[in-house]
Amino acid sequence: MSTRLNRRDVVRAFPIVLMGSALGGLGRFLAGCSEEDPGGPIRGSGTTPYAPVPPTDQDEYVAPNGAPPTNAGDAPPTLPVQTWEARARQLEEEQARLYGPVFTRAAPGSMAGKENSHEPQVTKLEEGGYKKVVILVAHVMGKNGLDAGAYDAGADSGVRDASADADAARSDAGMDAAPPAVDAGSLPVHYITTMYLRAMVGGKDTVVGLWEFASTDPAPPSVKFTLPPGITEVVAYEWCTLHGLWKANPLAI
Ligand SMILES: [Fe+2]
Repeated sequence: MSTRLNRRDVVRAFPIVLMGSALGGLGRFLAGCSEEDPGGPIRGSGTTPYAPVPPTDQDEYVAPNGAPPTNAGDAPPTLPVQTWEARARQLEEEQARLYGPVFTRAAPGSMAGKENSHEPQVTKLEEGGYKKVVILVAHVMGKNGLDAGAYDAGADSGVRDASADADAARSDAGMDAAPPAVDAGSLPVHYITTMYLRAMVGGKDTVVGLWEFASTDPAPPSVKFTLPPGITEVVAYEWCTLHGLWKANPLAI
């Protein structure tokens, strides 16, 4: 067989080369359009399967909407409340075991970037002759904070039962949602389980209010505590099932 191309072969091949070149150019054009798309990846579209990502602060943030806080009680509690002390200690020990110091806006540690949705927002007021404190956390409730369509029902129902939450959450029976590594197949329900206040009472650091939320409670969660007399400063805490224990700066009363 001759290795030399004769004129007839060149004529036959020319349209094929031309078509290949044109298709290649079209492919490069389309690829160029995709690379320059400022919108970034589109989750769950095209032929690429949905790729789960850890929640971001923006995913979790729920702006305050003016809804009244849950009222933890019109009268001050009789202190100490041993179930509160035990629960707070449990959360603080779990935080130390998993992450280290309690997260704050100034020192968010491994949760940097999640300050807006996790730092407790604390305000004080007077009502009915008592000093009171409201804690609000601008955070989702009962979700995973990921793509809602991909995760809402499936992941939630597999880990915690919403109806059981309401019964169990306020029982102080114990923490049932230790933060795991983020795994699309086993994410716990993502919500704020607990808010509490610490203050010095009779020279001792004491839990002066604690509230357990259900995952079905509205977002953003908030609660109003009535303070015992004589308290001059409080520190608010909250526990997120995925992002641990956060506290606010001390608030003078
Ligand atoms: Fe969270």
